[in-house]
Amino acid sequence: MGLGILGAGRAGTALARAAQSAGIPVRIAASRPPRALRLHLAQYAPRATAVEAAEIADAPGGHPDDSPAGSGIRPLVVLMVPQEDMDAVDPEWVRGTVLVDATNRWSDEPLPGWLAEALRQGRSSSEALAARFPGAAVVKGLNHISHWDLDTAGRAAGTERRALGVAGDDDGAVRQVADLTRRLGFDPVVLPGLAAGRSLEPGGPVFNQPLSAEGLRRALGLPDA
Ligand SMILES: NC(=O)c1ccc[n+]([C@@H]2O[C@H](COP(=O)([O-])OP(=O)(O)OC[C@H]3O[C@@H](n4cnc5c(N)ncnc54)[C@H](OP(=O)(O)O)[C@@H]3O)[C@@H](O)[C@H]2O)c1
Repeated sequence: MGLGILGAGRAGTALARAAQSAGIPVRIAASRPPRALRLHLAQYAPRATAVEAAEIADAPGGHPDDSPAGSGIRPLVVLMVPQEDMDAVDPEWVRGTVLVDATNRWSDEPLPGWLAEALRQGRSSSEALAARFPGAAVVKGLNHISHWDLDTAGRAAGTERRALGVAGDDDGAVRQVADLTRRLGFDPVVLPGLAAGRSLEPGGPVFNQPLSAEGLRRALGLPDA
């Protein structure tokens, strides 16, 4: 199954390189149309295919309607668009997908009203996104690592594997994101539900911390595997 990436900036192109090193075909979209992305991708993610954002769910492996019957496998799309631009992401683009929320809020980032209000009420950004994108199974993941490390840490030889948290309420979607995380070269640590993904956000105990699976579980107060 391939991967769709919404956002072709620092994080999106780093993920594209990591995925393609792992043999995963990538389609990627930005706010610019595909033609305008060509030079950018030639430099930062040369093997990724630029598509319109509205076509991001048509990642290799199929459109939602084309998933192998009964497999339960849904197209995987990783959201790497700044939270301040989230109003411009059409929920229809990601209907039927497993949507990985890899976003974080920069400290002073202005947010759309619905997102600011949800955070003010104590919800995690992923819970707010799940309400915004009701046709997608939202899973928090791939967010608490810098684009530098996303690019290389999963392939570093001779070092302890770094762990990345995966938080969601849909078991099948969580399995797909855990599998993606593993294929990228990281150890997935599954958290108990989407709301728990808040502990992976900036200011939390594991943000940008290079931890093993055991270290990540300990830092999050999770039981041993
Ligand atoms: N940078 C990191 O180390 C890192 C690591 C993990 C997670 N994250 C999170 O990932 C998100 C993106 O960060 P970044 O550093 O990659 O930002 P960035 O370099 O500014 O890139 C943002 C990308 O989003 C695209 N975009 C904006 N609105 C869009 C829309 N409506 N539809 C499709 N694409 C859209 C932009 O398109 P154009 O190129 O056409 O402008 C650009 O390619 C943030 O929430 C960040 O917290 C970042």
